[in-house]
Amino acid sequence: MATEDEFSKLMRFSTRAIHVGQDPEAATGAVIVPIFATSTYAQESPGVHRGYEYSRSGNPTRTALETCLATLEQSERGLAFASGLAATTAVFASLLRSGDEVVAAADLYGGTYRLLEKVFKPWGIRTQYSDNLSPESFENLLSADTKMIWVESPTNPLLQIADISKIAEIAHHRNILLVVDNTFASPFLQKPILLGADLVVHSTTKYISGHSDVVGGAVIGRKELVDRIAFYQNAAGAVPGPFDAFLTLRGIKTLALRMERHSQNAMQLAEWLKTHPSLSKVYYPGLKDHPGHEIAKKQMIGFGGMISIQLISDQMVNNFLKRIRLFTLAESLGGVESLVCHPAKMTHASIPPEIRESRGIHNRLLRLSVGIEDIQDLIEDLSNALKSE
Ligand SMILES: Cc1ncc(COP(=O)(O)O)c(C=O)c1O
Repeated sequence: MATEDEFSKLMRFSTRAIHVGQDPEAATGAVIVPIFATSTYAQESPGVHRGYEYSRSGNPTRTALETCLATLEQSERGLAFASGLAATTAVFASLLRSGDEVVAAADLYGGTYRLLEKVFKPWGIRTQYSDNLSPESFENLLSADTKMIWVESPTNPLLQIADISKIAEIAHHRNILLVVDNTFASPFLQKPILLGADLVVHSTTKYISGHSDVVGGAVIGRKELVDRIAFYQNAAGAVPGPFDAFLTLRGIKTLALRMERHSQNAMQLAEWLKTHPSLSKVYYPGLKDHPGHEIAKKQMIGFGGMISIQLISDQMVNNFLKRIRLFTLAESLGGVESLVCHPAKMTHASIPPEIRESRGIHNRLLRLSVGIEDIQDLIEDLSNALKSE
C-alpha cells in the first residue's frame, strides 16, 4: 500500500490543494483545519509533548498550510511567514554572510530592491543587477563571491521572463543557489523547483491566498536548505498567526480555478489592449510578440493575470485613473478583484527615480491585476477609461 507521502504525490494539483496537510481533525473530525488560536501547548512532563511547544516554533494551522505549500511546489518542505518580505529576509539572512554577493534581475519588486540596498548592503551583502534576463547576462555578473541568484519570472512590473532551467544550470555549475520569486505565476502555472531552482519564495498575499484579505509569505524547497531557514525563522520570529494561515489555506483550495480564469481574462484583455490607439505598449507574456513568449510557453502552463500597459501621454494616465471603475487603484495584486497600480508612484517608489526610469518604470506605465470578473465588464470598463476625449 502507498504511504501517506506517496499517496499525496499521486494526486493532481487541484486535489493536492484541497487535501494535502488537511485531513479531518483528529479530536472532532472537523473537515476544515481549525484555527488553533493558542500560543502554548500542555506538556506531559518537561520536554515531553505532542510535537508542539510554543506557537512561534510551530502551530497546527500553520503546519497544514506549510505541508500544502510544499506539495504545490512539488518540493520537500514549506515555511509560512508573516509577509512575502519576511520570507525574502529569512532567505538572505539565513543563507548569506557579509562579503557574499547576490545577482538579481533588475526588474524586481521595489520592496525586494529596498531590502537588498537599504538593509543588506550596509551588512556587507552586495547585489549586482542584470538589466537583461538572458542567462548569459546573469553569468557575466557572477564573481567568486556570488552565493545566490534571485529572479522573479514573470517580473514585477514589466512581465519579463527568465529561462529558469538555463539560469539554474549556470548557477549550479558554480555552486550558487538559484531562488525564484514565483509570486506572479503561482505554483499552479509554474513550478521553479522542477525547473532546477533551489528555493521558491512567494508573497502569499497575492494569488496563493487570492482574496486580498491577508498578508503572508512562504519559502519552499528541499529539506536540508529550508531547515536552515526554519532555524532562522524561529530565532528571529516572523511567523504568521493561525488566522492568517487559515485564510491562506482557504484561498489555496480554489487556486487552480482562479488561475485558469485570471489567465483567460488577461489573455483576452491583452489581445484587445494591443490594438488600442491610446496605448503605446502592452506587456503580457501570452502575446506572441512578447520577447519571453516562447520561454513562458515552455515553463508555464498559462500566462497569468498580470498585464502592464504604457499609455501615450501623462494626461491619458490621469484621465484613465479618474474614469476607471472596476479596476481599483491600489497596491498589491492577485486577488479575485481587478486592481490597477501606478508602479512609479506606488509599488516601485522606493527605487531611485533615475534607476526606475532607466528600467522603463516611468509615469506612463500602469500595471493591471486582472481579476476573475466577467470579461465583458472588464473590457467595457477599460474601454471607457481609455477614451481619448
Ligand atoms: C513579486 C513580489 N515579491 C514579494 C513581494 C512582497 O510581499 P509582501 O507584500 O507580502 O511582503 C511582493 C509584494 O508586492 C511582490 O509583488
